[in-house]
Amino acid sequence: MAGLCILLCLGALLARQGSADLGAVAIVEVHENVTLHCGNVTGPRGPVTWYRNDSELVFLLSSNSSLPPASPRFSLEDAGALHMEALSLEDDGNYTCQEVLNETRRFPVWLRVASGPDQIVVNISATGALPNGTLYAAKGSQVDFSCRSASRPPPEVEWCFQAHISEVFGRNLTANSFTLLQMSQNLQGNYTCSATNALSGRQRKVTIELLVYWPPPSAPQCSAEVSSESATLELTCNWDGGYPDPTFLWTEEPGGVVVGDSKLQPLSPSQLSEGKKFKCVGNHIVGPASEVSCVVQISSPSLASQPMKTCLMGGNVTLTCQVTGANPPAKIQWLRNLTQPEVAIQPSGHYHITQHDQGSSLTIYNCSQDLDEGFYFCRAENLVGVRAVDIWLSVKGSTFRGQNMGDIMVLVDSEGEDEEEEEEGREDIEEEEQETNEREELPKETSKHGHIHRVTALVNGNLDRMGNGLQELHDDGDAELSDSVHEEDKPV
Ligand SMILES: *[C@@H]1O[C@H](CO)[C@@H](O)[C@H](O)[C@H]1NC(C)=O
Ligand SMILES: *[C@@H]1O[C@H](CO)[C@@H](O)[C@H](O)[C@H]1NC(C)=O
Ligand SMILES: *[C@@H]1O[C@H](CO)[C@@H](O)[C@H](O)[C@H]1NC(C)=O
Ligand SMILES: *[C@@H]1O[C@H](CO)[C@@H](O)[C@H](O)[C@H]1NC(C)=O
Ligand SMILES: *[C@@H]1O[C@H](CO)[C@@H](O)[C@H](O)[C@H]1NC(C)=O
Ligand SMILES: *[C@@H]1O[C@H](CO)[C@@H](O)[C@H](O)[C@H]1NC(C)=O
Ligand SMILES: *[C@@H]1O[C@H](CO)[C@@H](O)[C@H](O)[C@H]1NC(C)=O
Ligand SMILES: *[C@@H]1O[C@H](CO)[C@@H](O)[C@H](O)[C@H]1NC(C)=O
Ligand SMILES: *[C@@H]1O[C@H](CO)[C@@H](O)[C@H](O)[C@H]1NC(C)=O
Ligand SMILES: *[C@@H]1O[C@H](CO)[C@@H](O)[C@H](O)[C@H]1NC(C)=O
Ligand SMILES: *[C@@H]1O[C@H](CO)[C@@H](O)[C@H](O)[C@H]1NC(C)=O
Ligand SMILES: *[C@@H]1O[C@H](CO)[C@@H](O)[C@H](O)[C@H]1NC(C)=O
Repeated sequence: MAGLCILLCLGALLARQGSADLGAVAIVEVHENVTLHCGNVTGPRGPVTWYRNDSELVFLLSSNSSLPPASPRFSLEDAGALHMEALSLEDDGNYTCQEVLNETRRFPVWLRVASGPDQIVVNISATGALPNGTLYAAKGSQVDFSCRSASRPPPEVEWCFQAHISEVFGRNLTANSFTLLQMSQNLQGNYTCSATNALSGRQRKVTIELLVYWPPPSAPQCSAEVSSESATLELTCNWDGGYPDPTFLWTEEPGGVVVGDSKLQPLSPSQLSEGKKFKCVGNHIVGPASEVSCVVQISSPSLASQPMKTCLMGGNVTLTCQVTGANPPAKIQWLRNLTQPEVAIQPSGHYHITQHDQGSSLTIYNCSQDLDEGFYFCRAENLVGVRAVDIWLSVKGSTFRGQNMGDIMVLVDSEGEDEEEEEEGREDIEEEEQETNEREELPKETSKHGHIHRVTALVNGNLDRMGNGLQELHDDGDAELSDSVHEEDKPV
């Protein structure tokens, strides 16, 4: 099959031109010269006279010099051959050579004058054209092919298709025009129209490359990710599945300031500010008529956690911290001391850290008061910002249940999160004003309202103490406080 379609455009003259001494038939193209022989005989020749023999005989020229030729284009050559110059289509016809020797002999010659094809006009619609002349059609669209050419006699027009795939397959369509109702990927290739003059053999071909394009099937998806190589923030505009690849334009919204035009768009640190929005507009050459776009907003993490937790001495406790709004996703660490942010709690036999989709959990095994009581910080950081939230962990002696049960514990109970099940009777709530460093001597559990009041005092007191560290770490001190303190818990 490989030789099925020769994609070169042959303009060469394939006619058997020139001396047409084949006897009966001579085939010549217009404008050429031809010599018609007076029979294919050897031996002495007598005087000859040439006639055009259509419906009647018309004198052309004779070896009798007293008779002038009918046209200066005609002349006699050796052995009575008729030489005709600059043939026109009107010269097409039957000729007779009459030779007078002992007897009169007549030799007929059929002169066939061929013309063209000189050019081919190919129309492939509806398609678009690339700068290099290649056409493209949308997948699924209807494409009409037509090929026009003039010649005499009328040309044989043939369409031929060659795909890019290594296995060549041809479609030999002997037709001026045809329609492909639904373009598909395997109809991408080179379409050749050839027009052949069957008489002269002259052939013209036009080959047109037709690509089949399709846009990505779904809408673009924007995301912000941290590049693994450069540790910079990269906007990603995912709009795959089309052919050829679409183009992208990233702008900052609102305002429309152009950021870049690549699928993966790195952002410089100066472009990273809280809440900034970036829009990606996807463009495909046969894409949807309306604009397709997606928007990504980058933001620093927000944190939420319980303000405090209680652990029984020798028991286990899990502190959890929920992250919201972080884009790109935040890295979460647990710290004991916020002024030493680089010293994160590492998983060990004592600590177990679970990172989950929306946050992190720190489990402390075998609580001890000396070691484990105190503030814990959950710190979430992405390239846009960093936040931390504190959790107070109090560790109680398990043997003193009901004695020094702090209100903290009750708060936990009320949230149904701890192992504490006993519901103590109401106690006086006069000790609410105690300092936080006196938490070991907290009163017995009191009413829920009382616990909450107490808890707030603890939180506030420690926030004051830790204030400097918080300010250093957080880009937004106010937000940090609101992360830590629940408004409804504030003392009246
Ligand atoms: C002329 O005739 C001879 C014998 O008949 C043949 O062999 C030869 O090919 C002919 N020549 C042409 C030009 O037709
Ligand atoms: C035909 O013959 C004439 C005279 O000999 C010459 O000038 C001309 O170039 C020839 N044409 C072709 C196409 O050979
Ligand atoms: C002219 O052509 C016809 C038919 O083509 C033929 O019968 C006739 O003999 C020819 N005349 C001469 C003088 O050759
Ligand atoms: C040439 O033609 C003239 C005029 O028709 C004629 O008289 C003469 O006999 C012819 N000569 C020959 C040799 O045929
Ligand atoms: C010439 O003669 C052939 C038969 O010899 C015939 O088929 C053809 O139609 C004739 N051509 C013309 C133009 O009369
Ligand atoms: C012509 O006739 C003469 C005598 O009749 C003869 O000798 C000669 O061979 C003939 N020539 C041809 C070509 O037939
Ligand atoms: C090509 O074909 C289409 C319809 O098939 C027609 O609308 C258009 O005018 C044509 N173009 C040319 C240049 O002929
Ligand atoms: C024309 O450009 C397209 C797209 O760049 C390419 O796929 C195709 O091969 C090119 N065709 C030619 C003939 O250079
Ligand atoms: C069309 O033909 C050109 C030249 O041979 C080739 O480079 C190109 O790959 C072909 N295109 C397809 C789609 O087959
Ligand atoms: C197309 O088919 C015809 C006859 O079936 C054949 O003669 C011709 O060579 C073919 N052309 C191509 C390009 O395959
Ligand atoms: C604490 O967790 C460890 C490991 O899961 C478990 O073996 C142990 O029994 C737990 N202790 C308590 C008091 O639940
Ligand atoms: C936190 O670390 C700093 C620097 O090492 C230290 O001065 C400070 O006392 C520590 N605070 C606590 C509560 O451990």
